[in-house]
Amino acid sequence: MTATPADAGAAVGRPTSALPVDDPALAASLATGLERVDALLRERVDHDDPFVAEASGHLLAAGGKRFRPLLTLLAAHLGPRGVTDEVVAAAAAVELTHLASLYHDDVMDEADVRRGVVSANARYGASTAILVGDLLFGTASSMVADLGPEAVKIQADTFVRLCSGQIRDDRPTPPGVDPVGHYLGVLADKTGVLIATAARYGAMFSGADAGAVEVMRNYGELLGVAFQLADDILDITSEADASGKAPGTDLREGVDTLATLDIRAAADPADAELLGLLDRDLRADDAAHARALELVRAHPALDRARDYTRGVAEQARSVLAPLPDGPVVGALAALAAGSVDRVG
Ligand code: IPE
Ligand code: IPE
Ligand code: MG
Ligand code: MG
Repeated sequence: MTATPADAGAAVGRPTSALPVDDPALAASLATGLERVDALLRERVDHDDPFVAEASGHLLAAGGKRFRPLLTLLAAHLGPRGVTDEVVAAAAAVELTHLASLYHDDVMDEADVRRGVVSANARYGASTAILVGDLLFGTASSMVADLGPEAVKIQADTFVRLCSGQIRDDRPTPPGVDPVGHYLGVLADKTGVLIATAARYGAMFSGADAGAVEVMRNYGELLGVAFQLADDILDITSEADASGKAPGTDLREGVDTLATLDIRAAADPADAELLGLLDRDLRADDAAHARALELVRAHPALDRARDYTRGVAEQARSVLAPLPDGPVVGALAALAAGSVDRVG
């Protein structure tokens, strides 16, 4: 494919702008690191077959926040070696794994829009979207193989957890299981673990000590849960141009999130209309879907979900306590706080 650097971020806000980094040297290093990651991504996603190149470059060229590689690069400032070639490769491999999961996710969620452009499944069909996801995961695995057996094991275990989370996300809560606990477990698996691996790889491949690597892993998992909780709130509150996705996808697909689980658990007679809508198939009824979205948007359960998300972000921040204060830890703390109130 022939995406230019300008293409590779056109649709959704550029990542460094999402991160309040006060330290100019750190900001410059992150920007340079992301350029290197983007260049490597474009090189590795290219293919001799023009259609394969186009379909696998489709979402990469559309943009994205590059949240995970940014986290890898940031974590790499904890180690004595800093942003090495291995750190850049690990960051790109994590983004490719994420990208693969987005191709698959849009098939399972029947999503038509992603990163501000038509989704791969809507454009090329579900079979191609699934196979491109597999291809990208294969490319990510090949890159991780060059980083050694420990990195391969981490990547493999990460993908097993991610897929198990996605499988459970697509199914009702099993009988007798607490729905909120189940939901939070699914979030940790489908989103938390990859963000944990992004942070862990950065610390690992910059030569940080084992304690710091473990702190970054724990911080990343909590950050990832907060990030997904915020994503689920954004699915309700956002406008399509800010998120690059269609609002109300979870409601349309009948996927419960913290706010709807809260509304269901309260079973308030005042919510009778909404509870009725939540139990209906909204996929073919645009008016009912719009009404459900309107009712959830106005519901106090949304603020309670925000408060809960803020609490998880705060836990992520507190995990950083053993690390020495400075611009890197300051940026990691800001990343946790910012993940709650993000708009895209
Ligand atoms: C979307 O992730 C899927 C989730 C796990 C919430 P991002 O919000 O990081 O998506 P991009 O990479 O910016 O498109
Ligand atoms: C995405 O979950 C999780 C993964 C891609 C692994 P969602 O389905 O909630 O994410 P969006 O909102 O479509 O990005
Ligand atoms: Mg989705
Ligand atoms: Mg999904």
